[in-house]
Amino acid sequence: MERKQYPQPALEAAQKFATVFQDDGVYAGPLSAAWAPGRVNIIGEHTDYNDGFVLPLAVDRVSAFAGRTRQDQEVRLWSAHFEEYAQFSLEQLPGSFEQQRQGLPGWARYVLGVVAELVRAGFALKGFDAVVAGDVPLGGGMSSSAALEVATVYACAQFSGGQLKIGDGEESRLQKMEVAALCQRAEHIASGLRSGILDQAASCLGQPGQAVLLDCRSFAYQYFPFSDPEVAIVVIDTSVRRELASTAYNERRQQCEEATSLLREAILRDEPENAQAREIKALRDITPEQFARYKDQLPELLRKRAGYVIAEDERVMQVVELLKRNDFEAVGQVLWQGHAGLRDEYEVSCSELDALVDIAHSVPGVLGARMLGGGFGGCTINLVRQEAVTALTQAVEEQYPERTGRQASIDICRAAGGPGMVIME
Ligand code: GLA
Repeated sequence: MERKQYPQPALEAAQKFATVFQDDGVYAGPLSAAWAPGRVNIIGEHTDYNDGFVLPLAVDRVSAFAGRTRQDQEVRLWSAHFEEYAQFSLEQLPGSFEQQRQGLPGWARYVLGVVAELVRAGFALKGFDAVVAGDVPLGGGMSSSAALEVATVYACAQFSGGQLKIGDGEESRLQKMEVAALCQRAEHIASGLRSGILDQAASCLGQPGQAVLLDCRSFAYQYFPFSDPEVAIVVIDTSVRRELASTAYNERRQQCEEATSLLREAILRDEPENAQAREIKALRDITPEQFARYKDQLPELLRKRAGYVIAEDERVMQVVELLKRNDFEAVGQVLWQGHAGLRDEYEVSCSELDALVDIAHSVPGVLGARMLGGGFGGCTINLVRQEAVTALTQAVEEQYPERTGRQASIDICRAAGGPGMVIME
């Protein structure tokens, strides 16, 4: 394989390795790299933890490790972005997780979380030194943390020489969706965010030119082409980062659980013989018809939350049907609707995200736009006719600072492949 085929951050990390770490005879393997992509989600926001459907794609932005296996049980890391070291030991993991976590910077906690989960799952890992680099905007709604988590699994597979194998072949020890689930558990323990499986699954399942429809309950998935040369995927970053977003996120999740159990009780009160209703475990199990019939029994706030989620699951299926006909105009319409739901019913947008969506709406040739990911800041995703990209860029540059006092950054992404690893020398 030629070097130029590796993602840029993998090359950057490999180049920095020798300047950051000294070879004092402690290494037991060649310089290797591993990486995993960030994601955008076309539609299906906040549906994952409701056992519903999502339609993401992996993007051509990655988190990458480059490093070498050590003979001992130490993991030493250097973040090219933060220009900062972090170090922890494999000894006594997962028991020592909480104590070791305290002493680490935020980014390294994700790495430790994944490593602890791998040890818990029974993998005998080896220590390593590595540089961590990446080009997924941090905290911007493209899942830089999931990319880092998934890249960590692949780095451990690379540095631990054969003990840990990944893939969907029979002899593999970890299937792709098992990697995603392990990384999701790591996210929970590392950050306290009770996230769903969307980000990690999208990173693990990435295929060039394809979006993936994932059933977040059964983990069944199916690919759909998403690569019309006339339509660009434009991601615009508000530059807003909210520290308290994870509290609000966990609160939404809890509201959905509460709405589910209230709706289940209401349905069963009315239809005690309804076997389907006894099986209701998440909002995914409530049909739009049932919701229309029983929604008045919910307090207003929960009615809005549940109404959004149930409609959003429908929107995912709608978009899948439209993609089969390559009807991006109509897909765009569904995106506007998704944003309105996130803003008015689920209430996870913010004035800056709304401003970007408004500006996009006023530009001819923008087919659709909405906030992306968890919300309260981060990015919007815009489906834009190629010939309208410049007009959108100009409109954002002119109007966004005026409306918000901030600068936005604009990125054009492509549906790209999933994780990778390679020996570099
Ligand atoms: C965050 C979470 C995901 C998902 C999205 C919203 O990105 O990590 O699991 O819930 O928000 O769709």
